[in-house]
Parts: sequence; structure tokens; C-alpha cells
Amino acid sequence: MEAILTTKIPLSLSSSSSNAPSLSLSSLSILSKTTRKLTSQSNSIVYKNTQHYPCVRISAMSQTAPASAEISTIPTEMKAWVYEEYGGVDVLKIDSNVKVPELKDDQVLIKVAAAALNPVDFKRRLGKFKASDSPLPTVPGYDVAGVVVKVGSEVKELKVGDEVYGDIHEKALDGPKQSGSLAEYTAVEEKLLALKPKNLDFAQAAGLPLAVETAYEGLEKAGFSSGKSILVLGGAGGVGSLVIQLAKQVFGASRVAATASTGKIEFLKSLGVDLAIDYTKEKFEDLPEKFDVVYDAVGEGERNVKAVKEGGSVVVLTGAVTPPGFRFVVTSNGEVLKKLNPYLESGKVKSLIDPKGPFPFDKVDEAFTYLETNRATGKVVIHPIP
Ligand SMILES: NC(=O)c1ccc[n+]([C@@H]2O[C@H](COP(=O)([O-])OP(=O)(O)OC[C@H]3O[C@@H](n4cnc5c(N)ncnc54)[C@H](OP(=O)(O)O)[C@@H]3O)[C@@H](O)[C@H]2O)c1
Repeated sequence: MEAILTTKIPLSLSSSSSNAPSLSLSSLSILSKTTRKLTSQSNSIVYKNTQHYPCVRISAMSQTAPASAEISTIPTEMKAWVYEEYGGVDVLKIDSNVKVPELKDDQVLIKVAAAALNPVDFKRRLGKFKASDSPLPTVPGYDVAGVVVKVGSEVKELKVGDEVYGDIHEKALDGPKQSGSLAEYTAVEEKLLALKPKNLDFAQAAGLPLAVETAYEGLEKAGFSSGKSILVLGGAGGVGSLVIQLAKQVFGASRVAATASTGKIEFLKSLGVDLAIDYTKEKFEDLPEKFDVVYDAVGEGERNVKAVKEGGSVVVLTGAVTPPGFRFVVTSNGEVLKKLNPYLESGKVKSLIDPKGPFPFDKVDEAFTYLETNRATGKVVIHPIP
């Protein structure tokens, strides 16, 4: 049993924002090569998109003058990126005749406005999680931001027209859905979603869920709390840049140190890092200073435990684990996004979009090639989606 949209929903059409938290231009060494117009205003990046959508008109912003938009029909087929076999970027293809996913009772159907890539997407595509993966063919994509166009019968709070975001796969590696977010539509359990923060556009919102939930879950599992110090390995990446911000702004860290290469040291400082370590010049484990928590988003193996205080915790996201380090795999949870909403809406915690993007939908393969260089700053975002 599903309720299907028949009403008009308020959506805005502009996609630029002057009050949304933005990546500081001065803090970045990477220059955008995107074909879209990118202008610098008041030390922030403004993306200007003029694309209109065939069925649903969705803008990147929600608080500009609302206009009415009408969704007349939800098609049975959609455009999506698909792979039918495991492999490199070349197995990815755009398919215009992918079935729009059917809704389960606890799910909503989202018209996707923006998505983001995560390393798990390409690791999964490479077949690293074959044993616990859903069957091929696969529509990749974990992170989504978009508009609810249909709700299942057990959906309690969300309604048609809501602007939502989230990580659509509850368990990142254990039976992720066959139909992901790199598509025009995606079906997601209500509990994995939250309303999009009002100050963020869809592209900014899409850049958050998996990375911010990983950052938060790791900090909680490490017992991080006010007054503690932390060393973040991989501070400029999607997860690391959020660990820095959450540690400082949400958990009340007394001191935050982080590693990155030379060109990203200023970027780390712009996030409020107290000690930015250039890993091309210094070995973090040789520093006399030790930390209550080391959060390793790089996979530094036994080096990470050499930087922790006795009795401290070492969170390891990838690679080998040396005691007392521990590894976990993120669980998608809309409640975490709801909890963080005040920090996001106040701009204390920012969504950081790599300035090589956002990549338009037809450039998803290029976006993956870039992410797979392991050099992304913040998040690789896909926007607009047709
Ligand atoms: N277990 C989980 O639940 C979970 C969840 C999310 C992510 N992960 C894993 O965590 C890792 C990080 O994810 P992500 O999304 O943050 O990746 P990402 O955004 O692609 O990370 C790229 C960043 O890593 C930095 N980096 C690379 N080598 C480094 C080094 N030796 N020292 C310091 N920084 C380095 C790069 O900075 P430079 O250019 O300056 O080197 C770049 O900014 C991935 O392996 C991912 O699969 C695991």
C-alpha cells in the first residue's frame, strides 16, 4: 500500500546561496575545472545552475521564494548509472531504462536532486565486498538529497514534498540495496533519512550523510568527550574534515591535530585545527605530543597506535588494526542527522564540497576517477541530476 503524490508541492528554483556554509576559497589549492559557472563572493563559493527538471523542478535551495511545482506522474523507468559486472570505472554505464524501485511499506521514494560518492562505492564496484553484496546489476550510490514523491503505508513522519537527505544503505557492506542514489529516483527507509537543513542546498546536503555519520559514530565509539585531544589522520578527506569539525564544534575537543599534504595545510587550519601536520615533512608518530583519541581515516596500520596516550582509543576506518585500535563499519541512521541539525543550520559544522565538483550526472564516471586518486578535498558531489 502506497500513497502516491497528486498534490502540488512547494519547491524553489534558484540554486545559488549566499548564506549557506561554504568551503573557503582561500583555503584551497585546488582550482575548479567545472564547466558550470563558479563565482567567488565574500570568501564563499556560489554554484549557479540553470538546469530545469523534466518532471519535478527542484532547486538547490529551499528557502528562497517558493514556487509551485507539480509532479504529474512518476515514471516506471528512469535514468541511472549501472554496472553489470565488478571492475574499474569502465564498467559504469548510464542506462535510461532502469526500473524505478518499488517501495516497501517503511520506505519513501525520493526524486534525487544530488548525490555524493564515497570510497565504499568504488570498493564495492571493484568486488571487494562480493560475499555480502546484493546481486548484480547494481545502481551505485549511498548518499542522497532530494524530494519525497511517494510514501509507503508505514511511513510515519515524512510526507510528499519533504526535502530530505541520508545514506540510503543501512549497513554499508552487509546487503546494500541493488538500487542506489546515482539515479533519478531511489527508495529509502524513513529511519535512514532526515529533513534537509534549511540553510543547505541539495548539493551541500548530499555531501554529508555517510561521512558525517561515520565521523560521529567513530567519535562516540571512541568515547570522545569534552576536554579530550584528538589526532585525525586524513583530515582533508570526506570523513576526516567532518571528524575535525565534530570533535571541535559538537564534542568540545580541547585540542585537534590533523594530517594532510602540504597544499592542504591551510585548509586544515580553516577547519579550526590547532596543529596541522604536513605528512610529507613530518612523521606524526615521532611527535612528543600524544592524544586521547587517534582517528585514522587513512589506514596507517601500526603507526596510528604510536600517537595515542596510554588508555586512549584508536579508531581505524580502513586497513590493518593494531590493538588497542578498533575498526567499525558505519550504520546509516537518520537520528544522527537530526541530532546534528542545529550544528549544521547554525553553520558550526559545514558541508565541504570538493571544488572540482559538483559533477553533473553524466560525468559520474569522471567523478569516480577523481575520487579514486585518493586526493579529494571534502566531498565529491554529483549535481544536478536530470
Ligand atoms: N569503516 C567505515 O565505516 C568507513 C566509513 C567511511 C569511510 N571509510 C574509509 O575511510 C577512508 C577515508 O574515507 P574518505 O571518504 O574520507 O576518503 P577521501 O575523501 O577519498 O580521502 C581523501 C583524502 O585522504 C587524504 N590522504 C590520503 N593519504 C593520506 C595520508 N597518508 N595522510 C593524510 N591524509 C591522506 C588526502 O589528502 P592529501 O591529498 O593531502 O593526501 C585526501 O584529502 C576510505 O578508505 C574509506 O573507505 C570507512
